[in-house]
Amino acid sequence: MTSPRLVLAYSGGLDTSVAIRWLAEHKGYETIALAIDVGQAAPGEMDRVRQRALDCGAVESLVVDAKQEFADDFVSHAIAANALYMGKYPLVSALSRPLITRHLVQAAHEHGAQAIGHGCTGKGNDQVRFEVTAMAIAPDLTVEAPIREWGLTRDAAIAWAIERNIPIPVGKDSPYSIDENLWGRTAECGILEDPWAQPPEDVYERSAALADTPDEPEELTLTFVDGRPVAVDGVKLSLAELIAEVDRRAGRHGVGRIDMIEDRLVGIKSREIYECPAAVTVLAAHRDLEDLCLEQELAQEKRALESRYAQLIYNGLWFAPLKRAVDAFVAETQRYVSGEVRLQLFKGHASVVGRRSEHGLYDEGLATYDEGDQFDQTQAEGFVKLWGLPTKVWARRQGQL
Ligand code: ARG
Repeated sequence: MTSPRLVLAYSGGLDTSVAIRWLAEHKGYETIALAIDVGQAAPGEMDRVRQRALDCGAVESLVVDAKQEFADDFVSHAIAANALYMGKYPLVSALSRPLITRHLVQAAHEHGAQAIGHGCTGKGNDQVRFEVTAMAIAPDLTVEAPIREWGLTRDAAIAWAIERNIPIPVGKDSPYSIDENLWGRTAECGILEDPWAQPPEDVYERSAALADTPDEPEELTLTFVDGRPVAVDGVKLSLAELIAEVDRRAGRHGVGRIDMIEDRLVGIKSREIYECPAAVTVLAAHRDLEDLCLEQELAQEKRALESRYAQLIYNGLWFAPLKRAVDAFVAETQRYVSGEVRLQLFKGHASVVGRRSEHGLYDEGLATYDEGDQFDQTQAEGFVKLWGLPTKVWARRQGQL
């Protein structure tokens, strides 16, 4: 009888490296490793990751460059919806999980595998995102979670691997648990678990410490078409390139550090450190352009849906019906969100200092206090009387507060 096959989301780290052997010993699986580059990898790194999976016993090792797909199919939606979980977190990891799961499912079908697997523990959100996405797009596949099931400490996993001569990844051992992609970088664990402790500088990689940022502000102009950023300082770029460029420039000014207490879906409050220079900058610009281009009733309704949308993505419901319905609403709102936003990058801030749009609803003739005022102030008197009428009726009847 041939062994069952499983496609494992492979990162190249310790956990998923030992998981390959564990899945063979405990469940009889042949493992196909699948590593996805969503913008976390240094040049050449994915080749090393591919080889490492084979060295650890994978029967096949696949690498996919999904940077463009991640930007176009996932991050672009998050931008349109100004998606920030708890008003702060740009959903870095939450956005990549449905993409990775989609590739796991596709590879499982192509390689005749009955199962997919991930290396998450039982304490986080990522297990939920992988598994609920799989339920939505491939309800018949089995999902294995070897690390959750095995429950080994890091030291025990290393000892287990050494006993079996598994070539576990060596190199600088980060004191933090890191996840990273184009849209940002996340850090947990170690000293960060004390929510009172200030994060040491070595947590950060993509943003400069304020003490080291330039003393001159830098200007950056973003062009949007239908809610999607398409150019930096007039230079057209793919979304993946644009994000990388903004990340680099904003990071140099210390923009994008987020230190927060987060409510995980599994009920735990955790302390999270995020570094998202591009996300913070692009979202500030996009939201500002919407303030110029969206009619006010629509804008208010959209703001209310945005936090719900972020929560759905955070909670692993990317492919759920409500998420799709909100996407349709958001897409409709973006029809006129085209124009330019000028930002100033300086000492940890990305501040909007100007915006313009052919579709802008700002009318100087209505707004001005100078010559050329077209607003008929005589109409205001009657408007205010009627607007306040219910309040007046109430106050007459019930007395003043
Ligand atoms: N707390 C964040 C989230 O739930 C980041 C998770 C990072 N994942 C990881 N395996 N380190 O989206």
